Amino acid sequence: MIRHKLLSTVGAAMLVAAGFACPASAQQAAAISGTVSSAEEGAMEGVIVTAKRPGSVVSVSVASDAQGHFAFPKGRLDPGQYNLTIRAVGYENSAATKADVTAEAAATVDLKLKKSRNLAAQLNNAEWLMSIPGTVEQKDFLMDCTSCHTLERIVRSSHDVDEWMDTITRMKGYAPVSQTIKPQRMLDPARAGKPEQYRKAAEYLATINLSATDHWDYPLKTMPRPKGAATKAIVTEYQLPRPTIEPHDVILDKDGVVWYSNFGEMFIGKFDTKTLQHTEYPVKQYKPDAPVGILDIEFDKNGKLWFDTMYQGALGEMDTKTGEMKMHPVPEQWNDFRSQLNFVGLRHDVDGKVWTKDVGTNNVLRLDLATDKWEMFHPTDKLAGAGPFGIYQLISDSRNNAWLAEFGDGHLGKIDARTGEVKWFNTPTAHGRARRMAIDDHDNILLTLYRANAVTVFDTKEEKFTEYKLPTEYTAPYRAAQDKNGDIWVSNMTTDRAVRFNPGTGKSTEYLMPTETNMRSAFVDNTTAIPTFWVGSNHTASLVKVEPLE
Ligand code: HEC
Repeated sequence: MIRHKLLSTVGAAMLVAAGFACPASAQQAAAISGTVSSAEEGAMEGVIVTAKRPGSVVSVSVASDAQGHFAFPKGRLDPGQYNLTIRAVGYENSAATKADVTAEAAATVDLKLKKSRNLAAQLNNAEWLMSIPGTVEQKDFLMDCTSCHTLERIVRSSHDVDEWMDTITRMKGYAPVSQTIKPQRMLDPARAGKPEQYRKAAEYLATINLSATDHWDYPLKTMPRPKGAATKAIVTEYQLPRPTIEPHDVILDKDGVVWYSNFGEMFIGKFDTKTLQHTEYPVKQYKPDAPVGILDIEFDKNGKLWFDTMYQGALGEMDTKTGEMKMHPVPEQWNDFRSQLNFVGLRHDVDGKVWTKDVGTNNVLRLDLATDKWEMFHPTDKLAGAGPFGIYQLISDSRNNAWLAEFGDGHLGKIDARTGEVKWFNTPTAHGRARRMAIDDHDNILLTLYRANAVTVFDTKEEKFTEYKLPTEYTAPYRAAQDKNGDIWVSNMTTDRAVRFNPGTGKSTEYLMPTETNMRSAFVDNTTAIPTFWVGSNHTASLVKVEPLE
């Protein structure tokens, strides 16, 4: 009793001291601070302010608070002259702004915003989906158009129905590793389909673009700016040296060094945030005519880095100390023009075997590392219904059973490692489109349901789902990761926001990124006091770190 009282007194004293210290030290600690306002709103909350030195690969961003005040903490910006830019949908900065950071004095800048002249150019994909008319099914078709470029390209086009049928067929023939500056065609012509099958979609697209009108008849809707907790974060972007680098999955090793898969080129990338040194490790190209790029990278239990090579039909493992790689090409009988190998199931510490799967054929493959022998499974044969089915991620549980996220429709599947028995489970929301997974030490699987706008936790022992709907429409989660406090972090390709979801309260804090950020990975660094979130910006060649301040 006494002990408890003593402790609480000390606790209270510390809180008071911290309370007094805070305002003064916050001011001293700012390298650049100031306010953001506009004639329309006065002081503006949730405006993202970005500081970047010309020629630097690092940009640092903070958000303004309810009083319109923003501050870059000292130590986050080295001395030098910075350009300040803003993001606030509907607004632009009224004048180019610079600020000098010196060792001695803090810079103060007041940013005055004016209404933007080109609102359409500022909308993210979710805002286009909110704005354009259409049924859920019609808009669902557009959800498949966000991975290589934004929806702006589509609504600004002037294609009529016939042109759309051809254009959609051309799009469907591109490998997902494509960018508009680097289209890559799949070798399998069947993947594109035939123009006629896209007639309904083409008719719809011709009603939302500029084919029959010179302006959009529908009002452009915008998402609210961040508020409160969502303004309390520092976002750091590290620019990579070529626009064709597509950082897909981004992970940190034990020393805090960043590793990423390059989705558009045959390299594994490494970035040291302390020295800003960027290193690329070339990966063998097996098929000269097939698309290039790597999707998944993961560490196994021995610290080896494993990756797929998509259309090149091989898995690779790398010693990150020496850079040495060992490749495992799939044997010819299961490796042809259709192959698109992605994801690895990495619990070979249990039985010496590594899993992967092929999107082009829906084959699941297993490699015995001791004998170099491969086996093939075809689990979608066991699914009821018409399909088409497509397995997205594969992951291993603690017994090296393979778990499969079925994206085409929406199922979770299991292949028993010992018996080969296949079992499928329907996701809670029908046709949820299961996409990426993470698995914890108790074999609970965290699964994103892209179409259901939800994440779900599957208890593999009880074989039970718990689904959580995400509060913001059109979030369309790509991947999720749970941090040490239980918060679920979600990446997505629509809202430009990193979502931190509390499964207990159902509330989310959504940190707005400074620029268009087409996110795939969702990696949580639990070594920081407050967990840090990492993603790759797949279209703008940057690595992005989100550090919440609370
Ligand atoms: C796999 C990557 C990929 C996907 C997915 C994709 N696109 Fe594209 N898109 C491209 C590339 C590459 C270009 C630039 C080269 C070109 O025009 O063929 C492009 C350009 C465009 C253009 C501008 C060129 C033109 O002909 O008007 C439009 C419009 C377009 N896409 C519409 C769509 C629609 C609609 C969808 C969804 C059905 C879609 N895209 C999905 C890769 C993709």
